[in-house]
Amino acid sequence: MLTPIEKEILELKEQRNAVLLAHYYEESEIQDIADFVGDSLALSQFGRDSDAEVIVMAGVVFMGESVKLLSPQKTVLVPDLNAGCSLVNSSPTDLFRKWRESKPDAISMTYINCSAEVKAMSDVICTSSNAEKIVASIPKEKEILFAPDRHLGRFLEKKTGRDFTIWDGACEVHILFNAKELFLLKNEHPDAIVLAHPECDESVLNYADVVGSTSRLLKEVQENSSTKFIVATEEGIFHQMKKNRPNATLIQAPTEKGCACTQCPYMKLNTLEKIALCLKNLEPQIHLDPKLIHRAREPLERMMDVSEGRKVKWEPIPY
Ligand code: 13P
Ligand code: SF4
Repeated sequence: MLTPIEKEILELKEQRNAVLLAHYYEESEIQDIADFVGDSLALSQFGRDSDAEVIVMAGVVFMGESVKLLSPQKTVLVPDLNAGCSLVNSSPTDLFRKWRESKPDAISMTYINCSAEVKAMSDVICTSSNAEKIVASIPKEKEILFAPDRHLGRFLEKKTGRDFTIWDGACEVHILFNAKELFLLKNEHPDAIVLAHPECDESVLNYADVVGSTSRLLKEVQENSSTKFIVATEEGIFHQMKKNRPNATLIQAPTEKGCACTQCPYMKLNTLEKIALCLKNLEPQIHLDPKLIHRAREPLERMMDVSEGRKVKWEPIPY
């Protein structure tokens, strides 16, 4: 049985020819009413490929911007424009420009968790699900400038054996997972598989059996025959994990003692009420300058090309 607010959203979606996309970190009631739930890459692809005129992104602003960059003709709504991201905040445009200019010959590979302005100074974008593939596609002789997540950067450096110059940003949620506490928990549950998002500190990743994007971690829970998992990422992901493996034991990885802070405060700004309201008003929308769209979509499309198996030329993109 649908609640009145859920009914209203479904009716508004039909009137507006809209689809609702949700990230795994959204509240479970938002995930349940969404047309599609996914990680950053899958949300961008779904938004780009959808025939709907209106895309409601129940996620954070950079996710809405990514859809707008790939499909500028669509109306992209984000229920609350305050839904930022600490990685976006940790890479302001002016500082990033100086950094980028300090290594003009390097390939600037930037995590999708950044502003459209930063994308417009980058050569290629990546998400946590395609980052290794993107690195592998960059000519070996090229130096890589990686921003803004230092933990994903270090993880990639280690995995690929390439030398990176890494920006010093971090996710305010994932850095709180604690290695010592995880070690103690793992000792209590030696049969558990430890899953971690690469935005966690290296000391936490060292204890992980699987490091990957939200969709990769979910896949592991779906496919691994183990019945116990310790999960080091935002707690919204538990909703799909529980749906897929109702009988498995899922344990949230520990943060420092006493801190119940494994929720992303930005993702959690979205509510069913705000989703209904944005569909009613067609606001707040993502508005981007056409010139910015033109430059910022190039590295994003390059990412899609590599990710979807198309050939890429690594010529520099002027900025
Ligand atoms: P994913 O692309 O793995 O869903 O990650 C997005 C994110 O913001 C993680 O904090
Ligand atoms: Fe940004 Fe971290 Fe929230 Fe992901 S969990 S959106 S990286 S603040």
